[in-house]
Amino acid sequence: LLRRWQSSLPQLEHVDRSDEESGGEIDWDNLGFGLTPTDYMYVMRSSPEDLGAFPRGELCRYGNIELSPSSGVLNYAQGLFEGMKAYRRPGRAGYTLFRPEENARRMQHGAERMCMPAPSVDQFVSAVKETVLANRRWVPPQGKGALYLRPLLMGSGPILGLAPAPEYTFLIYAAPVGNYFKEGLAPINLVVDDEFHRAMPGGTGGVKTIANYAPVLKAQMDAKSKGFTDVLYLDSVHKRYLEEVSSCNVFVVKGGVVATPATRGTILPGITRKSVVELARDRGYKVEERLVSIDDLIDADEVFCTGTAVVAAPVSTVTYQGRRHEFRTGPDTVSQELYTTLTSIQMGLAEDSKGWTV
Ligand code: COI
Repeated sequence: LLRRWQSSLPQLEHVDRSDEESGGEIDWDNLGFGLTPTDYMYVMRSSPEDLGAFPRGELCRYGNIELSPSSGVLNYAQGLFEGMKAYRRPGRAGYTLFRPEENARRMQHGAERMCMPAPSVDQFVSAVKETVLANRRWVPPQGKGALYLRPLLMGSGPILGLAPAPEYTFLIYAAPVGNYFKEGLAPINLVVDDEFHRAMPGGTGGVKTIANYAPVLKAQMDAKSKGFTDVLYLDSVHKRYLEEVSSCNVFVVKGGVVATPATRGTILPGITRKSVVELARDRGYKVEERLVSIDDLIDADEVFCTGTAVVAAPVSTVTYQGRRHEFRTGPDTVSQELYTTLTSIQMGLAEDSKGWTV
């Protein structure tokens, strides 16, 4: 079965590394967060005889993969994903990645929780670089967006009883993207859902398993049908403390103090979150990672969200138990300052004194 599955993967073809061609018929000025398939993906497998290692990977044409109906990922959601972005460097050749080794480590940490082997940090980062270079014609022009990279790790081997799968696949595909929310860079409107929860103590909220995402779709669809951008979840025990939004972390600002929920197992330790915490401290703000209650949020001056896809999105309103609360947005806000500081580093527009970019 494994041999059949392996031979079904798209085969490695000549990788055209020329930068001449542009990304097809793409309208670079109107990129959203939809899937535009690119040319190549990176695939690496770990079989039982590899003893938890991934011996080697390769680029192959982007395309469908065949999975056993009894694969661990399809039956038991034994899978993780990451999200990363590559930006075209202004005025110079090359592309910029943001803290890719952090994604590699987060995947390793998640793999431990989900009983999967994971690529080494070096393997992960080189695979990301190869994927970007092979798909370079799809990296949007400077200022128009980024090439989004989606590393996946999954139990691809067949298993019927509940147990770790016998084989694993690491795969990276890429797609050019613009702003995540339909609002673009404009402020978003959230609704607090106190019925559905994203995670629970002892669960998997703190790792980026695929299993964390489908369960929020119902609340998210409901919210969208009522005109909200997305949902803000509360903790499942007290129903009182902020956790995160469906696809990103949340921050509140009050009197110049920046606060974000501490990551204690139910909240994803976002790499953008961690970077914003550090940048805010560097800029002289007091930053607190703690329990942030819904009352803290209602009392806040500003609210914003962070994530790889989302970057740093200002929130103009949060509706809780039918009441709409408004927050400051616009040019003189802390969130705008942090957005500019962060994206200047990510896009290679400012000196990277932190050594975060690759
Ligand atoms: C990202 O921000 O890259 C994520 O992984 C969130 C995803 C739901 C778009």
